[in-house]
Amino acid sequence: MKNVNKVPIWFMRQAGRYLPEYMEIRSKNPDFLQLCFNPELASEISLQPIKRFDLDFIILFSDILVIPYALGQNVHFLKNHGPSLNCINSKKDINYLNFKECLRKISNIFETIKILSSKKGTKNLIGFCGGPFTVLNYMIEGGTSKTHSKIKKFVKEKKKEALDLLMIVTELSIEYLKMQIDNGANYVQIFESWAGLLESDEYIEFIVKPNKLISQEIKKHSKGIKIIHFPRGSRTNYKTFAEEVYCDVLSLDHSYPQEMLSLLREKNVTVQGNLDPKELLGGAKKVEEKTKEVLEKFKSNNHIFNLSHGILPKTKISNIETVIKVVREHETPK
Ligand code: CP3
Repeated sequence: MKNVNKVPIWFMRQAGRYLPEYMEIRSKNPDFLQLCFNPELASEISLQPIKRFDLDFIILFSDILVIPYALGQNVHFLKNHGPSLNCINSKKDINYLNFKECLRKISNIFETIKILSSKKGTKNLIGFCGGPFTVLNYMIEGGTSKTHSKIKKFVKEKKKEALDLLMIVTELSIEYLKMQIDNGANYVQIFESWAGLLESDEYIEFIVKPNKLISQEIKKHSKGIKIIHFPRGSRTNYKTFAEEVYCDVLSLDHSYPQEMLSLLREKNVTVQGNLDPKELLGGAKKVEEKTKEVLEKFKSNNHIFNLSHGILPKTKISNIETVIKVVREHETPK
């Protein structure tokens, strides 16, 4: 055998609307959240990209907004509009009972994980949750927002309430991840998609602290589990994050500072990323070129190939195949 390493590969949103087999199931299941709570269909959807592309990681099919749902908020996904939640302003507006009760409401997800775990073979199985601030963002904004004005105002003007709610979301997320691990996930990813909204002290309090607590509690619960963090858009704060928060893998978008790569080598943290999903809307030649660029950029780090954000619905399947082919043909010396 040659003395070489292969770069493992998966894609954020690998099970989704660009896949005709997903659309087929989705067309018969108009309620997206109920689809997430259907273990048979959710496990089938999670495995669709594996069957088609033989990727190295299975990610649970679900959504980060099951946590506000478990806390008693109304959550709906409207066609061509994204999520919609009733607006809240403080801790009093959520009528959660206790974490056990909350998790019971979404316990079908653990059944999905059990099914996936029994079928995973040698693949890795990723469980996930949203980063607490990102979940709070949707809870306060009531959906997808361009300006994020409500959450920014909430953090500035009602900091105590904001931190109280953030702590509830953090603690519930920890219990939720532990249950995913107990049912068979061997990786967890924390999607802090809106980390880039905050700076300085707010970044420390709302991004670093809760993510750090999640890592600590998950490692305490289960040493062997691998933790992937994704504080998207953190720019120079990516460094602060890596210095403060335990990560086995750090997912990078395009905002990270150059010195990150040597810092992550020193800390023995694997880099995940970071092909721009927009590249997958173009031609094959460019896709091949850009994929090679990513492999070259991270060649001195431990690397899991991925995108800098989720696959877009208009992505051509042939472009996904091109990326996989280039990554599979690539070998790095041990
Ligand atoms: O990656 C995967 O394949 C696993 C499943 C997964 C979904 N959402 C399924 C989904 C994961 C890991 C997520 C995470 C998620 N959900 C995030 C963090 C990552 C990111 O994208 O920043 C966020 C912010 C959400 C919230 C969310 N869910 C939004 C804003 C939307 C609507 C807009 C959009 O991007 O599609 C969703 C819907 C959603 N979640 C779909 C899927 C497959 C599309 C639903 C459909 O079929 O209509």
